Amino acid sequence: MLTLEDKIKKFEELNKAAEAGGGQKRIDKHHAGGKKTARERIMDLLDYETFVEVDKLVTHRSTDFGMEKNKIPGDGVVCGYGKIDSRLVYVFAQDFTVFGGSLSSANAGKIVKITKLAMKMGAPIIGLNDSGGARIQEGVQSLAGYADIFYQNVRGSGVIPQISAIMGPCAGGAVYSPALTDFILMVKDTSYMFVTGPDVIKTVTHEEVTKEELGGAITHNSKSGVAHFTADNDEQAMMMLRELISFLPSNNMEDPPIKPCTDNIHREDEKLQTMVPVDPNKPYDIKDIIKTIVDDHNFFEVMPLYAQNMCIGFARLGGKPVGIVANNPAFMAGVLDINSSIKAARFVRFCDAFNIPLITFVDVPGFLPGTAQEFGGIIKHGAKLLYAFAEATVPKITLITRKAYGGAYDVMASKHIGADINYSYPTGEIAVMGAEGAVNIMNKGLTEQEKADAIEDYRDKFANPYKAAELGYIDEIIQPKQSRYKLIQALDMCANKSEQNPPKKHGNIPL
Ligand code: HXC
Repeated sequence: MLTLEDKIKKFEELNKAAEAGGGQKRIDKHHAGGKKTARERIMDLLDYETFVEVDKLVTHRSTDFGMEKNKIPGDGVVCGYGKIDSRLVYVFAQDFTVFGGSLSSANAGKIVKITKLAMKMGAPIIGLNDSGGARIQEGVQSLAGYADIFYQNVRGSGVIPQISAIMGPCAGGAVYSPALTDFILMVKDTSYMFVTGPDVIKTVTHEEVTKEELGGAITHNSKSGVAHFTADNDEQAMMMLRELISFLPSNNMEDPPIKPCTDNIHREDEKLQTMVPVDPNKPYDIKDIIKTIVDDHNFFEVMPLYAQNMCIGFARLGGKPVGIVANNPAFMAGVLDINSSIKAARFVRFCDAFNIPLITFVDVPGFLPGTAQEFGGIIKHGAKLLYAFAEATVPKITLITRKAYGGAYDVMASKHIGADINYSYPTGEIAVMGAEGAVNIMNKGLTEQEKADAIEDYRDKFANPYKAAELGYIDEIIQPKQSRYKLIQALDMCANKSEQNPPKKHGNIPL
């Protein structure tokens, strides 16, 4: 019979084996590549000593290729729960030192189990991905495991925040779990995502491309729009995830967490008076305005490198988290195009799903003209943003800083699609189109001087916010320096907003 000592020894040995992962040699190789281990990452992510591991002793059940003799407790993924800023979160971290972090049936079962727990308890799930993909020794069982995860991702969508960090390889169908989650963060130089890798691409299309060019952090953050954040290294990645979580409610039934506000809510900044240039063709960076207005000048930008003519991100006003959507005239005059519409639409839907009020800054000359945009489907993609804003029932507060022209005026959270409060600066220009375009259409055959006069005349008549204010489309024209307090007041006024869309299974957003 085993003694108590023997039993304790076995318990300790199994735990030690789980914690050792793939062994010191593989851990050293992992570290040498500039990467932290799954457990180290979890320690960086969570509040000190709050991690509780689940399924530490799970092993795979594979018997092919001698796998029955090769079992490591935990099987290549560390799962559990803990706290971020004292709030519950669930986490799984693939351990590349164990079978390359590859996904076995048992290992997928662990991820599904923790995701279901997260949904049942109403807390976010964070996945730290670092995996060679499907466990090659298991074949179709591994594919089934992926699909089980995808299914849970979809069930959890809009119920709990789901966040993916890519911290190593993520290839083939494995990319689709992160793609189904709300946000993807990638680490520079050490992470990549692609459906088919450089070798397959070379065989099929004869294109030569490196792993980094094809699916590195910069590619997905600036070109494809697949990823939302870039971190320089593992530590920074964990800090960014912690900050992201600080803006989010734990689930769709909660309001986002309020932080005590030490920034004077009445703070006025004279700088704001001149930040929008008088010359309507002169660019300025909307981020300067946003940062001047929000609590502690802290703007947590989402997708900062992609479709920069649209700026989105989180901030706080009077301690309350808000989602900010803003045209940015510093890039392509802030025009709406396919990429910026899709970028903003998904963000608006995220905020609406998780009760985060929307603050929209408008300076938009219209939709981008051209065959590339029309052939690419700007009609349906622009409609996504229109749909998202119209569908959103969270508080919607809009501030026009300068141009709000044509269909883009309607789209950018106008009064007509349900905004609760619409402000404009005195520099607002709300009209069907810019003065030059209007004059070109209305008056053909004018001399240069007559044209210039007509443009001036049109601009004086229509390039202002007063007609819209007369009609009640703008609730109030405000001094730029008052922006902070005015937005906080509007937000407070909307605190108990209760609005519902008609009952339906789900709408049919133009995908
Ligand atoms: C089992 C794997 C593995 C896998 C890596 N390993 N990938 N074991 N299944 N998929 C193991 C290796 O055997 C090795 O074990 C250890 O992990 C580290 O791998 P290395 O190759 O030494 O590391 P590195 O040089 O950094 O290369 C990493 C890699 C490469 C690029 C990820 O390992 C690789 O190409 N792996 C195969 C990727 C792949 O084709 N996966 C299936 C894709 S299909 P030892 O014991 O030597 O340490 C797929 C479909 C998903 O995923 C579909 C979902 C719907």
